[in-house]
Amino acid sequence: MDKESRIPKHVSIIMDGNGRWARERGMERIQGHLVGADSLKAVTEECVAQGVKYLSVYAFSEENWGRPAEEVSFLMGLLMKKVHEEVSLLMDNGVRFVVLGNRARLSRDLDDAITGLEQTTAKNDALTMIVFISYSGKWDILQAAKKFARKAVEDPSIIDDFGFPEFDSLLVTGGIPDPDLIIRTSGEQRISNYLLWQGAYSEFYFTPVLWPDFRKEEFRQALNEYSTRDRRYGKVK
Ligand code: IPE
Ligand code: IPE
Ligand code: MG
Repeated sequence: MDKESRIPKHVSIIMDGNGRWARERGMERIQGHLVGADSLKAVTEECVAQGVKYLSVYAFSEENWGRPAEEVSFLMGLLMKKVHEEVSLLMDNGVRFVVLGNRARLSRDLDDAITGLEQTTAKNDALTMIVFISYSGKWDILQAAKKFARKAVEDPSIIDDFGFPEFDSLLVTGGIPDPDLIIRTSGEQRISNYLLWQGAYSEFYFTPVLWPDFRKEEFRQALNEYSTRDRRYGKVK
């Protein structure tokens, strides 16, 4: 890899293992989510320090709505709390905050608070932090297909020349570069309906470390491993 591309432009993380981390300590699952929030803080600071331009994290999947009601409401409460508490952390580090996903499923209060933080941080440009909430890859592709269908009904002449860049722009990630590196913690080696389209050529990094234990040192190890990868994109060197 040449020197410039050794630091990935966009790192994405499937933050997994909070429940197991808590159980291992005889605590409730929600304690794992609380400590996991500190890992996100640490990794965000390290992204700024290392010059990563986009950090995205899978915080809550569409499927996670099917968890017990107390856990869902704890997670939504935690998000609300962080949205209110972390303004200065984001402003001090020059972080632009964005939430992507099926926002229609969020409570009005949470959605409004998120919109407020997105507006407050809109001009920050050291790092863009994307939090995927109520997101799934299939949902994203389907909502893009529906947008396309509506456009095509209005003007069928767009169909023939509608290509990948045009479709990309209909995904909720439109305008955001595809992830170079996708990290998943906790030893699971699956995509769990995350960035199905955008991850087409991402490098994957799996670590057994549980998310609440994943801090700056573990993140640097992942970046280090990434710098040794040979990205061929199907071609021959
Ligand atoms: C990841 O940790 C956080 C969310 C999915 C919200 P988990 O809650 O999935 O923790 P495990 O996988 O059960 O240990
Ligand atoms: C994926 O983790 C979703 C998030 C990390 C937000 P899960 O814990 O929900 O995924 P599965 O059930 O192990 O595939
Ligand atoms: Mg999990």
